[in-house]
Amino acid sequence: MTRKLYIRTFGCQMNEYDSARTADLLAASHGLERTARAEDADVLLVNTCSVREKAAEKLFSEVGRWRAWKEARPDLVIGVGGCVASQEGAAIRERAPYVDVVYGPQALHRLPEMIDPRRSRAPAVDVSFPEIEKFDRLPEPRAEGPTAFVSVMEGCSKYCSFCVVPYTRGEEFSRRFDDVIAETAALAEQGVREITFLGQNVNAYRGAMHDGRECDLALLIAYAAAMEGVDRIRYTTSHPAELTGSLIDVYGEVPELVSHLHLPVQSGSDRILALMKRGYTVRDYVDKVRRLRAVRPDLSLSSDFIVGFPGETDADFEATMDLIDEVGFDTSFSFIYSARPGTPAAGLPDPVSLDTKRERLARLQARLSVLAREVSEAMVGRRLPVLVEGPSKKDPDELRGRTANNRVVNFSGPPDLAGTFADVTIVEALPNSLRGALAGAPSRP
Ligand code: SAM
Ligand code: F3S
Repeated sequence: MTRKLYIRTFGCQMNEYDSARTADLLAASHGLERTARAEDADVLLVNTCSVREKAAEKLFSEVGRWRAWKEARPDLVIGVGGCVASQEGAAIRERAPYVDVVYGPQALHRLPEMIDPRRSRAPAVDVSFPEIEKFDRLPEPRAEGPTAFVSVMEGCSKYCSFCVVPYTRGEEFSRRFDDVIAETAALAEQGVREITFLGQNVNAYRGAMHDGRECDLALLIAYAAAMEGVDRIRYTTSHPAELTGSLIDVYGEVPELVSHLHLPVQSGSDRILALMKRGYTVRDYVDKVRRLRAVRPDLSLSSDFIVGFPGETDADFEATMDLIDEVGFDTSFSFIYSARPGTPAAGLPDPVSLDTKRERLARLQARLSVLAREVSEAMVGRRLPVLVEGPSKKDPDELRGRTANNRVVNFSGPPDLAGTFADVTIVEALPNSLRGALAGAPSRP
């Protein structure tokens, strides 16, 4: 019987990508097949994120559930990967000795050796940063549906004062241009039509080209768009300070680049932005948005916001609310500040009560959802190209697809539309999705 692998993932798309590549890796090395049912698995992994608190608690509660299974079946392999693995290292095995292996985000390519029962020298804990190796030793990606992630860089060198990523994932390292293109081509050949380039600070991408030149994200997008089968390109997460003129220009030149950009601003107060060490002012941000919309008038913008950064005053918070209205953000993420051990902001005085922070978050989220709803309602009546991902989650007799601005659309249509673009007329805006009616094949995606 085929041995099975279960991976529980916490966190962002980077972690989803790492989990998918881990599954590819262990399929190639050990013939393991991924399962969605933990109780069926022979190898159980948890891929963790520590950007906000409670990460360690979630991790220990997850592996704690697996402990009894391991007592009944000692051949079961339990592993912990990702950012908490990187932060806690060997301490994880001290607190949960039944965990067999602990591997950092940069060491996941060493997992096949680490979980091998015949391993002699492979350590049980590897949270080192051998950056170049990781990308060099991943197998060919396997497409699952018409959309795929391609990681173009690891780590982050921005050191925002609140963020743990530079410490858990290491400094920025860009993958070679040829390797990114080869992975994109392999996915397009398997039917992928939409590529999302991934990196913690993705627009800082500077990949070495074979002729010694450096390729930035703008050039990478132009190359990828010219590839057969690649009809939509997204990228995330970008940093406002790294949004160069050439990247802005690409919005005027490359129609495959979608009219949707996730550009985390974090705060609308210059004082807070400086304390966060973000490297831009509110006016810098608004100016870039203006330039983007000059070349792509229908660009929809989403963002990340941190509410209650240490010392955030009412005036600072109101400045964020004003910015939200000025820019007109679409569906966004917002979080209460969470002090991360070892980051500079964790040492700042923080007199604001949690209740105040919660009230601010609720107000901010309410405003964001009104704006997102307005975007959805403005789409009603329009005929839009939708990339059909497969059956709808709620009703398997219906189809589910996505618009360029990343809205889920459910509609009736023949199942063989999965993996293709269809023109859909939007008939209703719901809180988390849209309803559509099939209008035909699109003139262009
Ligand atoms: N590279 C992105 C950028 O330019 O901002 C962000 C990557 S970060 C891993 C994802 C989001 O988590 C951030 O944009 C921020 O809003 C949030 N975040 C990071 N550290 C946080 C903290 N200590 N407390 C609350 N939210 C945090
Ligand atoms: Fe974190 Fe700032 Fe980098 S939020 S991932 S240090 S851009």
